[in-house]
Amino acid sequence: MVATTATASRPEGAAHRPRRAPAATRRSGFYANLRPQLYRLIESESVDPVRNPYAPGAGQRPPELAGRDRELKQFEVVLERVARGRPERSMIITGLRGVGKTVLLNAFRSMAIQRLWGTGKIEARPDQSIRRPVASALHMAVRELAPRHRAPDRIEAFLGVLKAFAQAGEEPSGRGAAGRSKARAHRWQPGIDVPATRGRADSGDLEIDLTELFVDAASVATDVGAGIALFVDEMQDVPADDVSALCAACHELSQSGGPLIVVGAGLPHLPAVLSASKSYSERLFRYARIDRLDRASADVALLAPAEREEVTFTEDALDALYGAADGYPYFVQAYAKVVWDVAPDTPITADDIKVAAPEAESELAVGFFGSRYERATPAERDYMRAMAGLGDDPVSTAAVADELGRKPSSLSPARDGLIKKGLIYSAERGMVAFTVPHFGKFLRAQLN
Ligand SMILES: Nc1ncnc2c1ncn2[C@@H]1O[C@H](COP(=O)(O)OP(=O)(O)OP(=O)(O)O)[C@@H](O)[C@H]1O
Ligand SMILES: [Mg+2]
Repeated sequence: MVATTATASRPEGAAHRPRRAPAATRRSGFYANLRPQLYRLIESESVDPVRNPYAPGAGQRPPELAGRDRELKQFEVVLERVARGRPERSMIITGLRGVGKTVLLNAFRSMAIQRLWGTGKIEARPDQSIRRPVASALHMAVRELAPRHRAPDRIEAFLGVLKAFAQAGEEPSGRGAAGRSKARAHRWQPGIDVPATRGRADSGDLEIDLTELFVDAASVATDVGAGIALFVDEMQDVPADDVSALCAACHELSQSGGPLIVVGAGLPHLPAVLSASKSYSERLFRYARIDRLDRASADVALLAPAEREEVTFTEDALDALYGAADGYPYFVQAYAKVVWDVAPDTPITADDIKVAAPEAESELAVGFFGSRYERATPAERDYMRAMAGLGDDPVSTAAVADELGRKPSSLSPARDGLIKKGLIYSAERGMVAFTVPHFGKFLRAQLN
């Protein structure tokens, strides 16, 4: 609150004007006495840390979604075409870690909600079937549509099928682990008090069940003149059998023209994962690869939120920030957040960036790079260090083996482990690359 008062008194327009006492301070003896301590505390009267708009963090909504207009427009077309029953391919967003896939997926979801679609979202995990998460997500989507449905019994019928679908993945009852998992399964039914239906979406074969469930969900959406969008984040982690079932269900739906779409996001090798599972997947999805922001978009990401707080950056500061963050959205947010906190005044200058850079880098080293590095085993770390030694482009697995003086086959477990942990990916046979931008640079700096 105190800091907000100080911000409100920012001298209009001019940079580096001598600091003035806040209006309230001038009027009140009480605040006047506090003033010296407050200034020492907040160090700035114009770039107020309390109002720092930047948001580095996984899936954190950025203060300004910059440079994604093309993808947003594409998705608008998808929604519109599906709503009109036109044949349409759904969208899959791919990209490196921290480029803004989750944020974009969430923006897509908001667009669907605005059109009164039912929506649900899952985050795939390796080795976890999507059956239960998809059931929860569709439950949520249909709950959003239900109040507008004229025939409550249609909703109830769907919920009965949904419940059967969710329970069909259970192992047979018994003692031990299977018994426990059955107990867990029974705990899944938040708010579904209709009995499970028999004979639909409950065969236990995910491909059949998912197809039937999607068709039924789409028909509920048709009744209310809306659609359903199911969002799948970290889609590369969907287990192979489930990917195949998901593609088959989407395929079936695209033929019947039902208004249900699956929108995915994942690492750059996701298209390869999908086409390995079903050759027709390329015709099911429109892939949008998102990348670093170009200079103009990175500037917008920085300036738009700042200017809403009446703070700006000099051209030199923007140059320096682009140099440091390299246009990667996560880095843009991370640098900007620290710079804002250290800058004494507006406009923020290149000198402020210089002061902030070491702190921003050490925060990234711990939070962005370090947390991921720690997930790797010693053998996997060796593998990544060898990759880093070979440069920043994708490298061949043979070259990594060479670098380590090992046989390529002996390194397969390390490589596969890293792919599973989402630290590296293989977009092309025999080649690997880091999923995390600047990871090679980070590792090389560790070695020095
Ligand atoms: N278009 C954008 N403009 C500005 N900032 C963005 C943009 N997209 C994402 N960000 C910021 O970048 C960071 C990373 O975004 P997000 O978590 O969506 O990335 P991601 O691609 O899902 O990463 P991961 O692969 O690790 O899940 C967040 O702090 C977010 O606020
Ligand atoms: Mg994400």
